[in-house]
Amino acid sequence: MSFAKKVILISGASSGIGAATAQHFAKLGAWLSLTGRNRSKLCKVAEQCNLKPYKLLIETGDLTNENDVKNIINSTIMHYGRLDVLVNNAGTLELGGIEATSLEQYDRCFNLNVRSVYQLTTLAVPYLIKTKGNIVNVSSVAGLRSFPNFLSYCMSKAALDQFTRCVALDLAHKQVRVNAVNPGVIETDLYLNSGMEKEQMKNFFERCKESHALGRMGDVTEVAKTIAFLASDDASYTTGVTLPVDGGKQIMCPI
Ligand SMILES: NC(=O)c1ccc[n+]([C@@H]2O[C@H](COP(=O)([O-])OP(=O)(O)OC[C@H]3O[C@@H](n4cnc5c(N)ncnc54)[C@H](OP(=O)(O)O)[C@@H]3O)[C@@H](O)[C@H]2O)c1
Repeated sequence: MSFAKKVILISGASSGIGAATAQHFAKLGAWLSLTGRNRSKLCKVAEQCNLKPYKLLIETGDLTNENDVKNIINSTIMHYGRLDVLVNNAGTLELGGIEATSLEQYDRCFNLNVRSVYQLTTLAVPYLIKTKGNIVNVSSVAGLRSFPNFLSYCMSKAALDQFTRCVALDLAHKQVRVNAVNPGVIETDLYLNSGMEKEQMKNFFERCKESHALGRMGDVTEVAKTIAFLASDDASYTTGVTLPVDGGKQIMCPI
């Protein structure tokens, strides 16, 4: 699998799954455009990618700000003149069910997990058509299955899954593929940033031994490798797929 001279834009590249995906694509020869809000974390990830400066672009921005999103695409095209793969990875987790939610929470979740993806993808598509490139969205097992107390997050990821399938159909005749990965529980900052208490998080991670058929939570590199597979020519006949990377979590039923 090689991504030599392929330009890959990764959102949410400053930590977790996005950071691991950047490092994995770097090993496979890709040229990277990395984005997130935190410049110093992005710079650290860039260092770990160990690429020559002309193969790496860092553009900070808040994806819920429309001008920042335009700027991310424009600077990528100005720097490289092309785009081969878009990885829509940035996302936020909001906790709470119907009795403990708010419209503010809904907006925070949908503005990043859905609306910003919609905008970034719209702006990227003309360039992806030129390269016959592809898109990988980072969804969640929460898009495929329903969980209590994750209402806005589950809804946003289900919307992202439907977005994946609809856009796959819209672009198939242009030979642009569109797929998603649906990770199970992966240990990243996502849970701490969601406001989960340390003890609650510990219990949640502990329960993964039972909630995931493979008896453990996943590692960021396992998701990164699946993203790279879907983005590669090895998946040349695959489009519109929402692929669980979840240790079997989405096929389980309580017994
Ligand atoms: N970890 C899991 O168990 C799990 C499971 C299923 C799906 N996922 C999905 O995987 C994706 C990555 O999450 P992660 O687990 O790697 O969490 P993470 O470590 O918290 O990473 C989230 C990334 O999103 C970026 N981000 C957040 N808000 C942003 C904003 N407003 N504008 C621009 N960038 C923003 C963050 O960058 P800055 O802080 O620099 O802005 C960070 O790079 C998410 O879409 C998440 O829903 C995760």
